Amino acid sequence: MSKDYKALAGEVDARAALPQPGALPGRPARPRLVPPKDVPTRSPFTPAGRAALLHAIAHIEFNAINLAWDAVQRFRGMPPAFYADWTRVAEDEARHFVLLDTRLRELGHRYGDFDAHDGLWEMARKTAHDCLARMALVPRVLEARGLDVTPAMIARLRAGGDAVTADILEVILREEVAHVAIGSRWFAWCCERAGLAPQPTFIALLREHASGAVRGPFNRAARAAAGFGADEMAALDALDASVLRARPV
Ligand SMILES: [Fe+2]
Ligand SMILES: [Fe+2]
Repeated sequence: MSKDYKALAGEVDARAALPQPGALPGRPARPRLVPPKDVPTRSPFTPAGRAALLHAIAHIEFNAINLAWDAVQRFRGMPPAFYADWTRVAEDEARHFVLLDTRLRELGHRYGDFDAHDGLWEMARKTAHDCLARMALVPRVLEARGLDVTPAMIARLRAGGDAVTADILEVILREEVAHVAIGSRWFAWCCERAGLAPQPTFIALLREHASGAVRGPFNRAARAAAGFGADEMAALDALDASVLRARPV
């Protein structure tokens, strides 16, 4: 195992003729996948709600492990640093998953106990054909959303007296900034290769595929550290305002 990891991290053959990965990676029989509206509620103020919240985040991390390895295996002909970056992300995501699953077990549950939805993998399917679109829409939209919502989650957990889980989310938040930055790095690289300007390209992809996933308030400091430019933040603000206007009161 450690030998395989080393090969992927540092000595990968970017042009190796591997079979393309299938549409779906392996996953355990549980959790059961249901439509997003049927996922259990997650108040951090009750033990059951806290467990459901932890489970939902563990499910995101589980998908993130698969997404990182999918990037390594699917996109060919990238520089070695691309594979090293996404291998490092996969290792982080596996550690995040174990932290959350361990905490879940302390609360009397384990991964698979609650229903979950498949929204993250939907975006993986949509972007399977194009590394540029994957880098824009997975790390820079979905993982970046985690940067926005996690601080409030940490505050609610602390208010509810669960400092242990809050501390785990602090670690995850810090490390996710680096993942989004890796997305920014390789998105810019793909844009340069294609002769496209990164910011307008990102904004166009966002409007086309992910305008519904944009919700403020944004974690501006974390997004700036992860490579979001002023034009991109202005576009996010405009999309958030239009979603707010369209939302029923
Ligand atoms: Fe993570
Ligand atoms: Fe991540």
